[in-house]
Order: sequence, then structure tokens, then C-alpha cells
Amino acid sequence: MKIYKVGGAVRDRLLGKPVTDIDWVVVGATAEQMLAEGYRPVGSDFPVFLHPKTGEEYALARTERKNGHGYGGFIFHASPDVTLEDDLIRRDLTINAMAEDGNGHLTDPYHGQQDLEARLLRHVSPAFAEDPLRVLRVARFAARYAGLGFSIAPDTLELMRQLSTSGELQALTPERCWKEISRALMEDHPQVFIEVLRNCDALEVLLPEVNALFGVPQPPAHHPEIDSGVHTLSVLEKAALHRQPLTVRWACLLHDLGKGLTPESEWPRHIAHEHKGLRLIKAVNERYKAPRDCQELALLVGEYHTHGHRAFELKASTLLELLQRFDVYRRPQRFEEFVVACEMDAKGRLGLENRPYPQADYLRGAALAAQAVTVQPLIEQGFKGPELGEALKRERLKALQAYKDTAKR
Ligand code: CTP
Repeated sequence: MKIYKVGGAVRDRLLGKPVTDIDWVVVGATAEQMLAEGYRPVGSDFPVFLHPKTGEEYALARTERKNGHGYGGFIFHASPDVTLEDDLIRRDLTINAMAEDGNGHLTDPYHGQQDLEARLLRHVSPAFAEDPLRVLRVARFAARYAGLGFSIAPDTLELMRQLSTSGELQALTPERCWKEISRALMEDHPQVFIEVLRNCDALEVLLPEVNALFGVPQPPAHHPEIDSGVHTLSVLEKAALHRQPLTVRWACLLHDLGKGLTPESEWPRHIAHEHKGLRLIKAVNERYKAPRDCQELALLVGEYHTHGHRAFELKASTLLELLQRFDVYRRPQRFEEFVVACEMDAKGRLGLENRPYPQADYLRGAALAAQAVTVQPLIEQGFKGPELGEALKRERLKALQAYKDTAKR
């Protein structure tokens, strides 16, 4: 048997990027041999094994044939007569279809090195179409390597378009999609992921609510970029630039979905878009079974981002309601994420990227003022049960009023 390093580890080494996990391909071996050498099988009918010591993945060289729709619909053909070239040709991109042996010798039958130099994401062969998830993968790689000047080969984009319009994307499981979406959002240029999906008609299928934002105008005085979709991408870009976590990036992507519902006759205004968008945010959250913290923040940012922008105009009682709604006393981090999402929203506007956002510190100060109210003195005064809750609220309101008054001066 011969063992080669393959995929991302080879690609990233050639790009001079850090290599995190290594995938290996084994040529000329049977499953029985692998088991005899102590490798542990990953699944019952999947020719992948874990190394007994390193835990890294070793896959038998294999060819895949399509059998029906979706992920379950694969037949794996792995046998000792499958060559390295047979294995590499069924991989997604040429830059992912290179192998390296123990002596550092590169096998590159599909010119991955050339495409690395040309900064091109290019599919290896028509076998690309065997896994529609690759549409999302290519968009994710485009988001990751945009800073290095990578683009997608025109015929690959065309193949992605065909896959997107063929109905194949609908067959992908929410889990597989979420894994790609969440990883793509954490890349340096997550807006490129959305742009690529849009360019190959996949956005319409995967996130029609986001797709609907393109071509919808906003008032130029507040939004010089005008287009709601362009604005959303810019907010996402700012969130990545400011190294925000996934929760914030997800909320940024979905915060304005309600604008896609405004009747044309009301354009460019979007009255109550915050509220109208909630059912769309909920639908997207559920479609991809996003983690609970992502779901929650997206809904809260969707509903309250305008409150954030208008922080200085909010009455003490409205500030209190906002803080209570976020349960800022027990979940201070979530409120902080809301504040930064609002800031990203404000900065994601053409020409206003560097405008200060004093609302952020003002909101943080309000949270601190309300959090500083302690319950102990009220208990000592004899309050209990629901009355204690009411008294606590009154004290917090007083604290917020005092905070407002001092902030004004
Ligand atoms: N692969 C593929 N099609 C897929 C998934 C994976 O062809 N749908 C192949 C590619 O050759 C890829 C390799 O399997 O390089 C390993 O896949 P994975 O670990 O998912 O990705 P990496 O390329 O290692 O990239 P990342 O840095 O994102 O982990």
C-alpha cells in the first residue's frame, strides 16, 4: 500500500498557509488490511479509517458513482486497483486534487499548482456535479481566498449555476449546509460567499430572503449605497473586518430581511421592517437549524436594531424595556453582541464606514447603570415576590433616568 497526503493540507502548504488537519489517501489496500494494521473504521460502509495513534483520516482511494438524489445517494467503490489519479479526478477543485508522498513528491495530474498560481478555483472534472454541496464549498473557498486574488473559473461557475437551477441543492441536508454557511461566514471575506452564491443562482434557492434584498432601494440620505442587498453585504464585511463572532455575523446577514417585503409603492421607506422581517428570520433560522445563540441574536437584532441607532432618543422606560428584553442582567454578552451588530449596521453604509457610533458606548453605559442596581437593599426593606420584582424595576428605571440626565450634560 502507498499513502499520500491529499486535499487541503497540500493546498495550504503550497499557499504558505498553516495546515491544521491532514487527510490521507491510501492506494492499493483493502479494508481488511487497514483493520489488520490497527486503523479504526469511521462508518460501516464508508472506506475511511482513523489512524490508531494520530486519529487522522485515512481514506481508501475510491471512485464515486452517483446513485439517485442527495447525500445518501452515493455508491463508494474502493478497491486496491483504484489509482491515485482515479481518486483525485473525483475531487472538487484542482487545487484540492493534489497529493504528496512521504518524500514530498507532488502528484498533480489536474494542474492544481498552475491554478494556485493563476489564483483560480476550477473544478477537476464533470464528477464535480456528484455532490451539490460543492456549490457552497466553492463559494466558501472564494470567501477564504478573496484576499489572495482568487476567482472562480467561468466554466466552474456555469456548472455551479446548472447545479443550482437543477433542484439538486434542495436535497442537501440542513446540517451539511449549515456547516458550510457557518464556516463561510467566519472567513475573512464572508460577503464574497453570498456574492458567489448569488452569481450562480444558488442564493435564490438557499437564502431567497437575502436574495430578495437586492434591487430594493433605501432612502439615500441614510443609505448612500441605496441597495438593501449591497448594504447587507457591507454590514457583513464590516463584521468580519472587526473580527466579530458567528452570532454577530449571522445577525448582520439577516437583520434587514423585512426590507424585502416592503411593497414597491412604499419604497424607499421601510416602515416597520424590523417587525415584518421576524418571520423571515425565523424561517431561515429553522431551515438551517442554526444554533440557539445564533437564532436568538438574529431575531433580537432584527427587531431592535433601529432602537440601537436611536439610543439617544429612547426614553428611560424604553431603555429599560430593551435591557429587560435582552435579559442583560443574566446575559450581558448577548447585549454586547447586539450593540456591536448595530454598530456594524451603521458602518455598513457607503461613505459612512468611519463615522463614530457613540450609541454603542451609550448603550453599554445604560446596561451598566441598570446592572448596578442591587436587590439586597430592597429585600432588607421588606419587598418580596412580585413586589420585589416591581421595586427592582422602579429602581432600575430611576438609575436609567439618572444615567440619561448625566449623559446629556
Ligand atoms: N472533497 C471533495 N468534495 C467534497 C468534500 C471534500 O472533493 N464535497 C475533497 C477535496 O479534495 C478536499 C478533501 O476532500 O480537499 C478534504 O475535504 P475537507 O477536509 O472538507 O476540506 P479541505 O479541502 O481540507 O479544506 P478545509 O481547509 O476547508 O478543511
